[in-house]
Amino acid sequence: MELAEVIKGRRSVRRFTPDQIPKEVLEDLLNMAIWAPSAMNRQEWYFIVIQGAKVEEMKKIFADAFEDIKPRLEKVFADKPKIIAATKTFFETYGGAPVFIFAYCGKSPDGKTWDTNSTAVAVQNLQLAVYEAGLGSTWTDGIIGKEKEINEALGIEDKKLLCVLPVGYPAETPKAPPRRDGRIEWIGF
Ligand SMILES: Cc1cc2nc3c(=O)[nH]c(=O)nc-3n(C[C@H](O)[C@H](O)[C@H](O)COP(=O)(O)O)c2cc1C
Repeated sequence: MELAEVIKGRRSVRRFTPDQIPKEVLEDLLNMAIWAPSAMNRQEWYFIVIQGAKVEEMKKIFADAFEDIKPRLEKVFADKPKIIAATKTFFETYGGAPVFIFAYCGKSPDGKTWDTNSTAVAVQNLQLAVYEAGLGSTWTDGIIGKEKEINEALGIEDKKLLCVLPVGYPAETPKAPPRRDGRIEWIGF
């Protein structure tokens, strides 16, 4: 696939088939992630990949996380109950994804803040590689309210959870949401 095709073709996928993903495929995808640029080349990104019983354990935590964002959803989508119901279902099932990838950040070079930027660009690499491999994923951070519980379940300390990606073979072909105008300014052209 051409790079432009990968960039434009990637979609957030929220429904998956139950097919397992071979570990070698996942290893190749994570290898693409860690070829991203990073602040001072410190490569302060950490990925945890889970499948099987651990997925079921984490899904219980994710389902609880819906309650955290429910009041916000009810405010923003007051006249769209279907969106609220669909979001609840997604939190409970995560589209049946067989694999989850947790993306964590280490500290920034100043040692005071979290290096979210480096992990974010690695996740972008990962999502593009996922798509090119015929798989799907979605960047989700609606579950961050349950970060403490997630870290405990995964045995993580001293790292910041950036997002969780459900990964699997797509059971849907989402339409591309149109891109907004007016986000690029040209000076001196
Ligand atoms: C920082 C960030 C946070 C996101 N959080 C969520 C989320 O919690 N749940 C979800 O379903 N999608 C989430 N998304 C996916 C966006 O909804 C999606 O990228 C956007 O609608 C554009 O669709 P596309 O990815 O198919 O181009 C997130 C994406 C980003 C980059």
